[in-house]
Amino acid sequence: MNLSPQWLDQLRGRLTLSSIIGRSVRVEKAGREFKACCPFHNENTPSFTINDVKGFYHCFGCGAHGDAIRWMTDHRGLGFMDAVKELASEAGMDVPAPDPKAAKRAEKRDSLYDVCAAAQDWFAQNLQGVEGAHARDYLAKRGISEDIQAKFGFGFAPDGRGNIAKALDGFAADKLIEAGLLISVDGKAPYDRFRGRLMIPIRDARGRTIAWGGRILGAKERQEREPKYLNSPDTPLFDKGRTLYNIDNAAAASRQTGRLIVVEGYMDAIALAQAGFEDVVAPLGTALTEEQIGMAWKMADRPILCLDGDNAGQKAAMRAAQRALPIVFAGHSLAFASLPQGLDPDDLLQQSGPTALERVLSDSVSLVDRIWQYELAQSDLSTPESKAALKAALMGHVQTIADRDIAGFYRNELMDRFYSVVRSKSSFSHPTSRSTNFTKAFSAKGKWQSSKSSAPLQVSKYQKNLGVVEAVLSGFLRIPKALSLHGEALCALDCQNEELSRLRNYLLEYLAQGQPLDRDHLLSILRDEGFGEVSSRLLRADGLHFSFSRDNDIGDSEQEQLDQAQRDLQEVLHIAVAQPRIMALLQRVSAKLDNEPSDEAFMEFAKLQEQRRNFSQRISHLAERARAR
Ligand code: UTP
Ligand code: MN
Repeated sequence: MNLSPQWLDQLRGRLTLSSIIGRSVRVEKAGREFKACCPFHNENTPSFTINDVKGFYHCFGCGAHGDAIRWMTDHRGLGFMDAVKELASEAGMDVPAPDPKAAKRAEKRDSLYDVCAAAQDWFAQNLQGVEGAHARDYLAKRGISEDIQAKFGFGFAPDGRGNIAKALDGFAADKLIEAGLLISVDGKAPYDRFRGRLMIPIRDARGRTIAWGGRILGAKERQEREPKYLNSPDTPLFDKGRTLYNIDNAAAASRQTGRLIVVEGYMDAIALAQAGFEDVVAPLGTALTEEQIGMAWKMADRPILCLDGDNAGQKAAMRAAQRALPIVFAGHSLAFASLPQGLDPDDLLQQSGPTALERVLSDSVSLVDRIWQYELAQSDLSTPESKAALKAALMGHVQTIADRDIAGFYRNELMDRFYSVVRSKSSFSHPTSRSTNFTKAFSAKGKWQSSKSSAPLQVSKYQKNLGVVEAVLSGFLRIPKALSLHGEALCALDCQNEELSRLRNYLLEYLAQGQPLDRDHLLSILRDEGFGEVSSRLLRADGLHFSFSRDNDIGDSEQEQLDQAQRDLQEVLHIAVAQPRIMALLQRVSAKLDNEPSDEAFMEFAKLQEQRRNFSQRISHLAERARAR
């Protein structure tokens, strides 16, 4: 039997080592890895680690080390071939028959890597040559730095039909066809697939070029005639649905950040990398496949989908959500970031810089939220029939979830939300209400949240944050319109005392009722509802001064100032929501450091400290800017 290294790699790539080991040993998640008491020697504290990304286990106690196959031979006592067969059937792969053709195929793949490497060199050279001037201009105009151009291997395919065969004359034409570089049509001489295009190499996890995306350049007429991006066809090296663009760089980066961002296209991935978000991948012109989601889960537990803010992008997000549901498992899910309408991540970075993207990412919602929001938006809940339709749609999603625990939790969560929306719908009947289904969801969430917000938080510890919370609430009193934009974040705000928390809940209720988002109206209703005292106190308060906590700045003054105030309110709200979580984590990690100091805990501690510092710096910056005006 002759199993090629490529085949074995593929086998390892499809297995999740921790779950294989987890069948006979108790494993526990520890950061990016798993830990267990070593099954190869006797111990009480775990020194056996499993890394699913690398596909290896290692014991720091006894030095036991290996991959999935080694585990089966050394721990289960199987012979090599039996181990391979068992694992292959688990991975849904056929063990290659012992025929010489298999060896030939492996050889052929090897030589295709050489073809691709040579072609990539040639494309990259062309970009620097005379013919590449146009493409170089284009890259410069898009602001892609030379470092990034080199790192991502940008190249250029000259126009014309016989160039690549001439340039790569050391390789037979059928190799170039197999690699997808030449198109062969019966009765015609094979010709170049990529002509007059900016070339972006697609690499496998080991950094080998396996395919390209070619972006159109040049005259508008051409751009109207031909597709913007042309991809390599599937080849023995390249399977579109099992490849993620930039995985070679992202795998390492996401080990550092514990995060993985998924964007729609090459240029988005590259723009993010240039802006410092290197933990980013993209599918290749298709919706995310199950395989791609599985690959992403090897890098991060909760990859963040950051797709275009247009309809197509949002549809793609929903499609990914539907693909993920049947395969989610404990601890693994997707998150969804919403970009402003009409922008892709690249545009957002160009327009508003990295902090804007950072904010979009940290405002991402969970899979269950995404599904809920999507279905709720489809439904008007005006009749018993439409309520039943929403319920059926929600349950339809639950039924696709294969993991029984998770399915149960989804059912509870979605039905809670469903009934609380249906109830609020029938108790307030506002035929002319502007309130959207989204705002109702926020209000429903606010109610659940409120039961949590009485959890025993040590108020004294967070006293400092209280001023910020008060300022934020006063911001919403001054700019009620912000309620419709940031209702969801407001739900998540830890108000730190009963009175403020009641006011917050009432504001969400007010929003859900579709009351006019008008300051005078809001304040008069608040008075009627018994919030008169607290709201005047908040409006008078002279603790922290932000752009949104000064009356004369806002009122009927200029739009620009109002916009600024709204943006600042959003940012401060966001910080106020995140702060208590950071503080709680800090407390936990510092306790851990006291009991069981380790590098890992220290790094975590430092990272949290840094985050806390950033937050307070932003707060003082925003407060100062407001004062300076
Ligand atoms: P977009 O049209 O959003 O392009 O397609 P983009 O990524 O913003 O590219 P730039 O900024 O205009 O250069 C998103 C992705 O869809 C695939 C590509 O993978 C692209 O990155 N696509 C798009 C194609 O495969 N073919 C096409 O003709 C267009
Ligand atoms: Mn773009």
